Amino acid sequence: MTTMAKARILVTRHLPNEVENRLTRDFSTELNPDDRAMSGAEIAERAKNFDGLLITSMDRCRKDLIDALPASIRMIATFSVGTDHIDILAAKAKGIAVSNTPDVLTDATADVALLLMLGAARGAVWGDKMVRDNKWGPPSPTYPLGLDVSGRRLGIIGMGRIGQAVAIRAQAFNMILHYHNRRKVDAASEHGATFHARLDDMLPNCDFLSINCASTAETRDLINEKTIGRLPNGAIIVNTARGEIVDDEALISALKSGKLAAAGLDVFKGEPNIDPRYRELDNVFMLPHLGSATKNTRIAMGMRAVDNLEAFFKGERPRDLLTGA
Ligand code: DGY
Repeated sequence: MTTMAKARILVTRHLPNEVENRLTRDFSTELNPDDRAMSGAEIAERAKNFDGLLITSMDRCRKDLIDALPASIRMIATFSVGTDHIDILAAKAKGIAVSNTPDVLTDATADVALLLMLGAARGAVWGDKMVRDNKWGPPSPTYPLGLDVSGRRLGIIGMGRIGQAVAIRAQAFNMILHYHNRRKVDAASEHGATFHARLDDMLPNCDFLSINCASTAETRDLINEKTIGRLPNGAIIVNTARGEIVDDEALISALKSGKLAAAGLDVFKGEPNIDPRYRELDNVFMLPHLGSATKNTRIAMGMRAVDNLEAFFKGERPRDLLTGA
């Protein structure tokens, strides 16, 4: 009886132990226990001895890297739902399969969207600072005050899985829901939200705006001076999608002028090297890209990536294949 050789997988970052144990058992794997970030050139060089890559959203997999990959690489599984870091067309052109990890991080990410809305509206940054800096003076009925979340109007950009999970949570806050999406979703998936085919038509109805769309060439800087200008004065923007969707200059200037009351940001352009001006604003509630960062979610993401690799190397169609016909 012959035993099939295990597929060889290069894993670019340190993953939860449960995931690495399974990888080690089922594949011939090179792990990265020190979680050292590798350059594209290093990934291409190391990939020479492998059949597949398990990468993360921190690994830029642009055309130049894909072109530099050896012919042995047949699949790239990313440990993320977002795929803006991968040139999928270049991979497809080279016959490399690509998969992502949808579904398993929907709840965790939607939870953070609500955390950002509440934190931004209720002054989590200045409130926490006041207590820490021992500046909590005698209580006053009029100072300090935040803004209500309950009963206000929420606009969701991108009514995919995460946008819908945000809508479900916002219903518990009696929010009045609106959404903008490339197309109207079926009635059950709207969760009572009103569809706007044009973003410009939705914006004047948003006390809160939650960004939940994919980062693509079309959505780059979608939130800019013009779109922010259409929001009601004192609106709040939260972003759990990608920093590339927001024009930082426009957002910072609206937060400084008071056009926007606050923002809640989990993602940033160029993260972790964010625009330093955000750090000076106490009306911005910021997190370091924690949307999917719970233990269970990260394990589930890893297992989903491994499921995809396993299916592919068994000759089956991976469930989350992005390069299919
Ligand atoms: C994702 O899965 O896309 C999250 O943003 C983590 O990168």
